[in-house]
Amino acid sequence: MPDGTAIDYDGLIPNNVGLAQDLRVRKALETWHPGYIDWWKSMGPEGFQASQVFLRTAVGVGSDNWAKFDFVRMPEYRWGVLLAPQIEGRTIPFGAHKGEPAWQEVPGEYRAMLRRLLVIQGDTEPASVEQQRHLGATAPSLYDMRNLFQVNVEEGRHLWAMVYLLQKYFGRDGRDEAADLLKRRSGDVDSPRMLGAFNERTPDWLSFFMFTFFTDRDGKMQLAALAQSGFDPLSRTCRFMLTEEAHHMFVGETGVARVIQRTCEAMKAAGIDNPNDIERVRALGVIDLPTLQKKANLHFALTLDLFGNEISTNAANAFNAGLKGRYQEDRLTDDHQLLTATYKVLRPRDGGIATEDVPALSALNMRLRDDYVADTQAGINRWNRVFAQTGIDFAITLPHVAFNRRIGEFAAIETDTNGNILTQEEWIRRKDSMLPSADDNLFIASLMHLERQPGAYANWIAPPRHGIDNRPGDFEYVKIDP
Ligand SMILES: [Fe+2]
Ligand SMILES: [Fe+2]
Repeated sequence: MPDGTAIDYDGLIPNNVGLAQDLRVRKALETWHPGYIDWWKSMGPEGFQASQVFLRTAVGVGSDNWAKFDFVRMPEYRWGVLLAPQIEGRTIPFGAHKGEPAWQEVPGEYRAMLRRLLVIQGDTEPASVEQQRHLGATAPSLYDMRNLFQVNVEEGRHLWAMVYLLQKYFGRDGRDEAADLLKRRSGDVDSPRMLGAFNERTPDWLSFFMFTFFTDRDGKMQLAALAQSGFDPLSRTCRFMLTEEAHHMFVGETGVARVIQRTCEAMKAAGIDNPNDIERVRALGVIDLPTLQKKANLHFALTLDLFGNEISTNAANAFNAGLKGRYQEDRLTDDHQLLTATYKVLRPRDGGIATEDVPALSALNMRLRDDYVADTQAGINRWNRVFAQTGIDFAITLPHVAFNRRIGEFAAIETDTNGNILTQEEWIRRKDSMLPSADDNLFIASLMHLERQPGAYANWIAPPRHGIDNRPGDFEYVKIDP
């Protein structure tokens, strides 16, 4: 038995799940591997596949010293199957089976539900790589390019994580699903990815930073809920994925913070106090703050749709079954079964928006979304400190959860960013003041160009405060022409 902390790097597939002894699964994964590499080469980062990139690779699954940094060509990255260590005597933490020993095999009655959860999570991983594949060509620095590629290879590894579970525990069905995960394509008309936000374009670096701030945070919430799972291999898989996910949100949060910092500094230097003096700010070659706000509005709304319907029988069933818990389930102090509890849900009512008490079991998507909003707000507060530090009077705010939604209670209405319901005419008239307009996008696109000099940064973004793995400011994170 593997001890669960050391990783075997000898085979084709680095792992800590004893693949060397598990011939059936090893063969299935090795059969899947060439298709994955084909997918990576054709749908992964465009260009730069031969470049040497300063990447972190997991070398353990403990909480410290789990990664090492080195130059790697992306197609040679050691994608692997890594599970957090098994917890001795772990029990199912919630639902109808609460207190029973955690499952080491798939419970037959929940097989279809569990497979569906794995496929939906798995589908998001390659999708984001596809969405971001053109961004290398306009990286604002080698530091940022490296961060993009780090996120990309780790999303690739997250796909491996889900594919392992499918192939190990779901036999032929699992192998078919694993193959299909390489067939769907983000934004494809005939065969799109499964969730809306993962079919949107990520056309520029501001979108990338917003995506990693807002949408990777949805990833964090979903993984945190799955990390509570009574199906132990899923719990262990997600616990390790969360370690990697933290870096993705770091990239987004610090990326936007650096854009804010640069804009504010440029405004100060030019003697511009009014953030709405958009033309003068743009003339400085930096991104004006109202446009930044509009980008945040867009990515927040797209991400909220990922939580699904506020009232959901599927979510209730997955909780009852012990497959998907709540955020930080293990720190909550209720009965973990929600037999009598209620939860407040926001719904359109009588021309306005009202709260309504519903059975808590049916409102688990709403609850996870609320936890997400609170987590996001904490990040926004950190952005707003940058305004305070630079002395520019501005703050980023989150729009109302009803704003610009396509899924759930608010899909049928339009509101402004404060949640006031708008007629279709009002919506069309005011839309461009709340979401990025074609002009805004053109302006942002005009700023995007590759900055390939080590230590140099495009004019619209400030340098980071620290290098990756404490490297100096002029470190060459990507050797583009090796
Ligand atoms: Fe991921
Ligand atoms: Fe991620």
